[in-house]
Amino acid sequence: MAITTVLTGVKPTGQPHIGNYLGAIRPALELSSEPNTETWLFIADYHTLTTTPDPKRLREMTYEVAATWLACGLDPNKTVFYRQSDIPEILELSWILSCFTPKGLMNRAHAYKAKVQENQEAGKEDLDFGVNMGLYSYPVLMAADILVFSAHKVPVGEDQVQHLEIARDIAQKFNRQYGEIMKVPQAVVPKVGKNVPGLDGRKMSKSYDNSILMFEEPARLKKLVGRIKTDSLPPEAPKSTDGSIIFDIYQAFAIPDQIATLKSKFEAGISWGAAKEELFQVMDEALRGPREKYKQLMADKSYIDGLLKQGAERARANAVPFMHKVRQAIGVGS
Ligand code: TRP
Repeated sequence: MAITTVLTGVKPTGQPHIGNYLGAIRPALELSSEPNTETWLFIADYHTLTTTPDPKRLREMTYEVAATWLACGLDPNKTVFYRQSDIPEILELSWILSCFTPKGLMNRAHAYKAKVQENQEAGKEDLDFGVNMGLYSYPVLMAADILVFSAHKVPVGEDQVQHLEIARDIAQKFNRQYGEIMKVPQAVVPKVGKNVPGLDGRKMSKSYDNSILMFEEPARLKKLVGRIKTDSLPPEAPKSTDGSIIFDIYQAFAIPDQIATLKSKFEAGISWGAAKEELFQVMDEALRGPREKYKQLMADKSYIDGLLKQGAERARANAVPFMHKVRQAIGVGS
């Protein structure tokens, strides 16, 4: 049976919220337990550098991402787990690929176009204001992340699908010139069903200030759940589960029996306070284990460093010979 290589990268941007957990982390971990797949997961710290964060903060955020995935159940024996910046071959390939990337292709990349539009709307004369070359060629680095490990499938959110198209274009262009060296990857967009709503009912997002972070202490978690927007129906009135933020989040954490029970309580009439208490209980139960594990991991960064180093060694065992082949093909090096 052929092995499928599934690879994805996560940009360090701070502690994830439960929308990230339910929409990205949990599905990726489920995927990694499928038979005949080999999963690769890395922390895309060089991608975060395009926004030049404070160095201390960048390092800290890298640990936060690593600890989050480990706390949620990533098994570093099964998944090749590493830091992008520990694999110099990625940067080497990135330069090579940039020589096969038409500039016009980058002009059309969403993140760059959004920045240009922002400048336009702000009436800036220089439409490239605030755009560094790292941001501009972000998709090339992402292509290198994927192609250097000959990944077959790349689970990503909807917003990253264009980057995968670009990676495919670049791989094909390279192959037309040098033969079938690059594996042409495929994007896989996990079906998340409905978006997880935030406290105010809009999509959960840090920029809306409506998020529940994954590792909140119980008292704070309870307080946040208490902030979820509800209507002014009296306690005894029957309530619809449709469009209920409380019920939507509950469903993501509870087992089918619990979901059915809460549904009948809604129909019979339950106070919003009691419904929120049930939601808090089920979330606290699901998140307690990961929260404890996260704290332990964050208290011992050298353990995380050790794991990531081992992961990088495994990754480089593939990247080094691959780059040898690439260098031979293009006519550089010895
Ligand atoms: N650009 C991705 C994001 O912002 C992260 C990422 C970097 C990535 N390199 C990747 C995802 C390679 C998949 C494959 O979410």
